Amino acid sequence: MTLEQEISKRRTFGIISHPDAGKTTLTEKLLLFGGAIQKAGAVKSSKIKDHARSDWMEIEKQRGISVATSVMGFNYQDIKINLLDTPGHQDFAEDTYRTLTAVDSVIMVIDCVKGVETQTEKLMDVCRMRNTPVICFINKLDREGRDPFELLDEIEDKLDIKVRPLSWPISMGKTFKGVYSLYEKSLHLFTASKTVIEEGIQVSDISNLELDTLIGENNAKQLRADVELIEGVYPDFSIQEYLEGKVAPVFFGSAVNNFGVKELLDTFIRIAPPPRHRATSARIVEPDEKKFSGFIFKIHANMDPKHRNRIAFLRVCSGRFERGNNYYHVRQEKSFRFSNATAFLAQDRETIDEAWPGDIVGIYDTGNLKIGDTLTEGEKLHYTGIPSFSPEIFKEVINKDAMKSKQLEKGLLQLMEEGVAQLFTYDVGKRKVIGTVGPLQFEVIQFRLLHEYGATVEFVPQPIYKACWLSSDSDVKLQEFVSSKLRHIARDKEGKLVFMAESKAWLQMVQDNFPDIKFHFTSEFNPAVEVKD
Ligand code: G4P
Repeated sequence: MTLEQEISKRRTFGIISHPDAGKTTLTEKLLLFGGAIQKAGAVKSSKIKDHARSDWMEIEKQRGISVATSVMGFNYQDIKINLLDTPGHQDFAEDTYRTLTAVDSVIMVIDCVKGVETQTEKLMDVCRMRNTPVICFINKLDREGRDPFELLDEIEDKLDIKVRPLSWPISMGKTFKGVYSLYEKSLHLFTASKTVIEEGIQVSDISNLELDTLIGENNAKQLRADVELIEGVYPDFSIQEYLEGKVAPVFFGSAVNNFGVKELLDTFIRIAPPPRHRATSARIVEPDEKKFSGFIFKIHANMDPKHRNRIAFLRVCSGRFERGNNYYHVRQEKSFRFSNATAFLAQDRETIDEAWPGDIVGIYDTGNLKIGDTLTEGEKLHYTGIPSFSPEIFKEVINKDAMKSKQLEKGLLQLMEEGVAQLFTYDVGKRKVIGTVGPLQFEVIQFRLLHEYGATVEFVPQPIYKACWLSSDSDVKLQEFVSSKLRHIARDKEGKLVFMAESKAWLQMVQDNFPDIKFHFTSEFNPAVEVKD
């Protein structure tokens, strides 16, 4: 097969949701359709539930197991699908944000009872940074949920994206009858089943009385009214607008009952984008360029201190990756041989000889690779769009064993490279503050520093609201700002300037007082993600 053919048959995507909306269940059903697993229940290992705090070891163990399922490759109708799993636990949200930089599109699961929840909003912000195409799957229609029109309004409102329903539910909860596909003009009648693959009944004209027989007079009347309203209110679905990240097509279903999942998957493989061009510091790289390039978006450490190897996840962006070849590590300005590349399958990992744009390759690493690194065949370019995001919780690191400063330094550096948390070093006094999305990471860091590096630390909570990366059109103004706020200025891991804002109100005030300074909640700046909360 040619490079172009390999590219056109690949779909690399992620499923995102607020915990409990049904991400794991939907993943499992998609794998069942793809023949990648044979029975339900096989994906449990990637599911990290809200354990008690003290249970973080268990969570880490599960995270370890979930490496196997963190990229699931399977074939469906001759399309090679790479599904990138994202951690369910909110404390690991930054892992999810970064994984989203490696996908070409996203399926967002929303619980029809709960509607749009906080985590969904945050994840959507990340999708918007790269205008990632999004398909919404409104789940749990077998429950008494909210009015579908109300849900659509809420998605448009809270997620700031236009929607276009492509299927429509007929009633809900106990009286749920099924969905009508507006796209294919067919009716899918609901049967609660964990295994049956439902086939649609073609209904070319819903004014036909046959519909009354199939779903009852009242439901038929309601469906006709709803469809008329939808076609009056929502413009026709445009694939182009979906690909530009402007419109999200919406499907309704019930993942646990295997209902609506096939339509979702069938439409997904038809409309979701294959790997596309990507921005680098030097130029735009097209996937069909002959020369290989890719970037590291995730690193998973081995929790066993005796085996300090880690797995780096490489997203292939252009050309063909070949095992055993030498590739150029742009940051370190030298070539490495990659002889131990691994492909991810649904349940297993296996050595691979080649990989194509859109594929994810696992590379065993002893500390050369870090998140954001670019590999090429020699060209000096750096993939952009893999930013750090402002953490939510900040604590100062206090070294409790002066004899172990070196070990602490090394341990912190490595843990930060793995993306466990972010380190900010203040200009004044060189104080070190760690930022995370959730409280769990502090326990992980404390434990790992002690057991893997022999360093003992304590954490002191800091009253910080957000880390804001700074920019300005005027270097002089930026310097003036830094001098006047020196006590609140720190550097991130790359030495970039960061303003540690103590509260939302205070940040607002500072922004008003320094109109020439731009404050960003991510380490790479994009006009679409200016400071907002
Ligand atoms: P998550 O990965 O997004 O956190 O969600 P997950 O799939 O684990 O689903 C959360 C809960 O919602 C599970 O129940 C799951 O069975 C249920 N669920 C998923 N899809 C549907 C659906 O279409 N209808 C209904 N009624 N429930 C659904 P649980 O009790 O937490 O776990 P389990 O014991 O069933 O696995």
